[in-house]
Amino acid sequence: MKLNGNTVLITGGSAGIGLALAERLAGLGNTVIICGRRENRLEEARKKVPGLNTFMCDVSKDEDRKRLANWIKEDFPDMNMLVNNAGIQLKVDLKKGISGLAGNDEIGINLTAVIHLSVLFIPLLSAKNEAAILNVSSGLGIIPRAMYPIYSATKAGVRSFTKTLRYQLKDTPVKVFDVIPPLVHDTELHYGKLLERTDNSVSASEMADAVIEGLKEDRYEIAAGPAKNWLNAASNAQLEQMFDNINR
Ligand SMILES: NC(=O)c1ccc[n+]([C@@H]2O[C@H](COP(=O)([O-])OP(=O)(O)OC[C@H]3O[C@@H](n4cnc5c(N)ncnc54)[C@H](OP(=O)(O)O)[C@@H]3O)[C@@H](O)[C@H]2O)c1
Repeated sequence: MKLNGNTVLITGGSAGIGLALAERLAGLGNTVIICGRRENRLEEARKKVPGLNTFMCDVSKDEDRKRLANWIKEDFPDMNMLVNNAGIQLKVDLKKGISGLAGNDEIGINLTAVIHLSVLFIPLLSAKNEAAILNVSSGLGIIPRAMYPIYSATKAGVRSFTKTLRYQLKDTPVKVFDVIPPLVHDTELHYGKLLERTDNSVSASEMADAVIEGLKEDRYEIAAGPAKNWLNAASNAQLEQMFDNINR
């Protein structure tokens, strides 16, 4: 995938991995648009990244997804890259029950939005010479973490959807990438709390670098840190062992 001259929409680009990627791509000479729910965070991002375009929306809402797609078609018809990055992660004790699945939850944000936005943008992207969809899944989509049961299920869903999307779009100009971060310690995903670096984590900036490298090489599964080992685990026995390790 070429790395400059693209017009890129990054959902959830006002913080964390999305913002780091927005900075990288803007610096390489791409037009970058980000969206998020909080206007103050979009404004901070605009101050940090010169030339950044922003749109306030909640990707868990059907009407906001359609509003976003219509705005892009009108104002940025050259858009040729979609990065489905927005996500949330919640600890859930399944024994205590869950308070209903309302749509604005992990499934709505992490999975439904990824599917719906990908489909909404296929016509626009397919009309370009070169285009891409990047779906940000997670190492926990390969090996689930028991304290994040719904999150892990949504990320396994994103990985599965991304594979079938890639297959269905194989005869179009749209390249489909699965971005698979391991633990990224310096983002707000973990209840807004930045974590200390560990042997198993990478920074948002390092993750953005990995994405740029992966795009350059057309590597359709872009993993970093330990997620690389998880992706390359040869057998179910190895995956079971890794499951035991991360859930200890
Ligand atoms: N950090 C990790 O350890 C890690 C590991 C593996 C995968 N990932 C994945 O990487 C992606 C980015 O995570 P991150 O760590 O960078 O998280 P983050 O720092 O919390 O950033 C999340 C971004 O998504 C936006 N967002 C959340 N819900 C949204 C919604 N309903 N509509 C629109 N925007 C929304 C947030 O802005 P607003 O809150 O203002 O909307 C923010 O810009 C997620 O998909 C996450 O699952 C992260």
